[in-house]
Amino acid sequence: MIIGSTKEDLSQEKRVSLTPETAKNIIGLGLKLCIEKNYASHLGIKDEEFEKEGVEIKNSSQEVLTTCNLLIKVNFPSEEEIKNLKENTILLGMLNPSLNAKKISEILKKNIKLFSLELLPRITRAQSMDVLSSQSNLAGYRAVIDSVFEFEKAFPMMMTAAGTVPAAKVLVIGAGVAGLQAVATAKRLGAIVSATDVRSASKEQVESLGGKFLSVDQAEDAETSGGYAKEVSEDYKNKQAEMMQEALKKNDIVICTALIPGKPAPRILTEQLVKLMRPGSIIYDLAAEQGGNSAHSEPGKINVVNNIKIIGVKNLMNRLPLTASSLYAKNLFSFIRNLYSREKKDFNINFDDEIINKTFIKEN
Ligand code: NAI
Repeated sequence: MIIGSTKEDLSQEKRVSLTPETAKNIIGLGLKLCIEKNYASHLGIKDEEFEKEGVEIKNSSQEVLTTCNLLIKVNFPSEEEIKNLKENTILLGMLNPSLNAKKISEILKKNIKLFSLELLPRITRAQSMDVLSSQSNLAGYRAVIDSVFEFEKAFPMMMTAAGTVPAAKVLVIGAGVAGLQAVATAKRLGAIVSATDVRSASKEQVESLGGKFLSVDQAEDAETSGGYAKEVSEDYKNKQAEMMQEALKKNDIVICTALIPGKPAPRILTEQLVKLMRPGSIIYDLAAEQGGNSAHSEPGKINVVNNIKIIGVKNLMNRLPLTASSLYAKNLFSFIRNLYSREKKDFNINFDDEIINKTFIKEN
């Protein structure tokens, strides 16, 4: 069985699905690998590094696509790539089923089998494959680093002969994977950190990282049985806005990470709330591409209102593509190890396996 990977559209995506390290691991399972030439040269990884691990380098993407039994990608392949895929090929990647519904129904007509990693169940056995977690974790880290860069004051408290510099105050909205990493990173850099979430279970996690948890007064717990957030009531929103009024006046940087699966991002910071922040403050909106947690947030833009910078994130993983690729490729390897049967020397699409069942895209 041959696994192939082709280059992504470099104008949009710098991550890759295969690294020399995971190539070695995949070949160790008894599988063959091929990639397009200059596959990861934009990341400083030479073809020879893959060849050393036993990967075959093909001259064109077409050669890869017509050879492989399983194609690994970061994003949905282009129309041209899909044309070249053989029947019964398996496609594995972050296929974003809600956004790519039309493309998916087209590709299914070609008898291609699709697995989308965003659909993984959040169970212990799937943790090593969890792309949402691996990438969100990096996003939370990078959100703080970028905010520090834009903030025009020092971050940690400094006691100097010339006087004391106060520590920056950071508020994190949404304490999931990205939010918790933002809390940890801001703490490590010396900030005073607080965080809030609609799931009360996150209080303990925030506190274990040294952050203060800001609860919304007498509000319901908006956690679903699957551990995700659900949309909150109008009453909750009003109480959250009241809590924010006080918090925003005190904080220098707000990192927004709040998301509700399958819905647009909740709008938490209204125009009036944004204006309560001091001039020179930063709002870093990780949810910008899903509609934004903050007013004035636009993907890929920094908007300045009352001298407050509202930073809308776009393609954040392109700012640390080597680390993001390394983790993504490891997630893929774990998935492939579960999918491949060494005895049968074939991919084993066993729908009794929750991981396989939930990630497999069926026709509507
Ligand atoms: P996410 O990326 O979907 O959302 C980010 C955070 O925003 C969540 O914590 C959510 O509660 C919060 N949020 C939503 N609406 C909000 C609002 N109006 N105000 C404030 N906060 C709001 O979440 P993520 O990071 O994917 O985590 C979701 C759940 O999955 C968590 O319970 C997490 O612990 C769990 N998880 C479990 C894993 C496992 O393998 N067992 C792995 C990763 C996450």
